[in-house]
Amino acid sequence: MRDDLDALKAEVARALAEAATKREWDAVRVGVLGKSGTLTGLLKELGKLAPDQRRERGAALNVVRDELTAAVDARRGVLEAAELDARLASERIDVTLPPRPMPAGLIHPISRTIEEMAAIFGAMGFAVGEGHDIESDWYNFGALNIPAHHPARADHDTFYLPALGDGRPQVLRTQTSDVQIISMLEQEPPIRVIAPGRTYRADHDATHSPMFHQVEGLAIDRHITLAHLKGCLIDFLRAFFGMASLPVRFRSSYFPFTEPSMEVDIGWNRRTGELGGGGDWLEILGSGMVHPKVLSNCGIDPREWQGFAFGMGIERVTMLKHGIPDLRPFYEGDVRWLRRYGVSPLAPPLLHEGAGG
Ligand code: DAH
Repeated sequence: MRDDLDALKAEVARALAEAATKREWDAVRVGVLGKSGTLTGLLKELGKLAPDQRRERGAALNVVRDELTAAVDARRGVLEAAELDARLASERIDVTLPPRPMPAGLIHPISRTIEEMAAIFGAMGFAVGEGHDIESDWYNFGALNIPAHHPARADHDTFYLPALGDGRPQVLRTQTSDVQIISMLEQEPPIRVIAPGRTYRADHDATHSPMFHQVEGLAIDRHITLAHLKGCLIDFLRAFFGMASLPVRFRSSYFPFTEPSMEVDIGWNRRTGELGGGGDWLEILGSGMVHPKVLSNCGIDPREWQGFAFGMGIERVTMLKHGIPDLRPFYEGDVRWLRRYGVSPLAPPLLHEGAGG
């Protein structure tokens, strides 16, 4: 009887030594210790023995079960250590190797447009300013001559936020025009600032996104006239679109914070979508002479200082410049789209020949 147990131990030791993988090891384990395993079978047979034989045999089987369990566990430890070594070896990285050509990151077209605008307006003496995505109602509307029940509010599908502790209503700014107020309150005139940034309106379809970008421009000085506004914007548009003869048209319009106000159109071909002298006009931005009320709201004397302001959609001019047909991919982070429309981070923004006229 003892012999059969020695034979079993020898057999299991050999099988464990041969098991080279966890799967093979598990087959050995189940074959001995599992529900229908050899040792389990021997234990089941105990019941058939006479009581004194059963006691002796039972004690011997318990010893063997402990030994086999220990042998099985020990083998698992060896196999797991070997597995880890193999994995570490296969994942090893030689950090001393020279770099392979890596796929380069690209600048998003929105950032690119902002860089170009900063370069073009920067050359005209404008600094770059910044507003706040969360803005008080007064900066976004009130100070801009759009009081609480002004009909112009209906043009902006505003996201209203809970008022602050002092009861001041907050909004996600619907326009970058808040930067006009910020700049005039923080700086002494003369002022020349552009402010690109995020804006928000509750509107979502193929041509509208609830978050989009605008750039605001503001120039305050003594003796500023409509001629300065026109010259500045014509130069900018021709430089930005890289067309020295791009037709530009000023069309009278209405904004509460400018008087007079003008929308600006550029020439294009409605049929082909090409910019230039196609005989059609495309509205591209809003502008005007800063309203005297806005100046005095910011503590600037309108009899001494005048200014012009403008605002335009960054996505819109980017789509036009690069022939990008759909607005939605701007925000989807799809690298295939970025590879097509992004630009190298090492390419400096261009100041086209048209700049300065
Ligand atoms: N804030 C206006 C808008 O979102 C655009 C605009 C128009 C800005 C005229 C200006 C301006 O500074 O003078 O529609």
